[in-house]
Amino acid sequence: MSLLRLSARLKAIAELVPDGIGAADVGTDHGYIPVWLAQNGYGGKLYATDINKEPLRHAKQTAAEYGQDGRIEFHLCDGLSALKGKNIDTVVIAGMGGENIASILEAAPWTRENSCFLILQPMSKSAHLRKWLYNNGFRVLSEQLVDDSGIYEILTASAGTDEPYSPAELLIGHARLIASDPLYEKRLAQLTDKIGKEVSGLSASLKSEALERLTDTKETLLSLQKLKSSGFKAGD
Ligand SMILES: C[S@@+](CC[C@H](N)C(=O)[O-])C[C@H]1O[C@@H](n2cnc3c(N)ncnc32)[C@H](O)[C@@H]1O
Repeated sequence: MSLLRLSARLKAIAELVPDGIGAADVGTDHGYIPVWLAQNGYGGKLYATDINKEPLRHAKQTAAEYGQDGRIEFHLCDGLSALKGKNIDTVVIAGMGGENIASILEAAPWTRENSCFLILQPMSKSAHLRKWLYNNGFRVLSEQLVDDSGIYEILTASAGTDEPYSPAELLIGHARLIASDPLYEKRLAQLTDKIGKEVSGLSASLKSEALERLTDTKETLLSLQKLKSSGFKAGD
């Protein structure tokens, strides 16, 4: 039987899954994460959910192709809705927007009550996700950047109280967690450039909504510039 090979992004996510009693992959699509876990010694139960039929069919097909169909329980459902009451200690939600990830967690407060280990990989709006985690009783435990034809962010979190974020840290993660990442400086430069352009665009606009956003965006830019000039390295 052949072994599934993962992309750099998916491999970095899958390698963060600790062995345990149950792991759920939400929005599994192709099903690569649970199939890889089954093939690589995960000992607990594996769950895969998707809100759409076609991706779930694809996931079942991947499992069959790699001889793991008996190892994974599949659910057609929104987020974690079909998994309440199951013995799950790790939840993976990857490849969706940060707002969608936060909504899925909001609808499943048991993930916090049961101190589940969360592995989250937002494709956008990671600042929204960090803010939501901070306001909803989760502590971010690690931050990681992965280069896979673009830079991807991977966060892990669990129930707990976190330290407050600066505007820049909402975008990139707590400096103490991310500053030693090999891609940190590149990501910080990208974000500074992006927010700098937003400030220029908003400054040139005459619309009242633009003026309202300008103050916040300028504050974020200043915060990013401060972080950059601080030369913060994890452990400082
Ligand atoms: C871009 S794919 C990501 C697949 C995989 N997790 C990855 O990271 O490569 C997003 C998948 O999430 C599913 N999805 C989106 N919102 C969802 C929700 N609320 N609950 C479950 N699945 C969802 C979509 O149907 C799609 O299959």
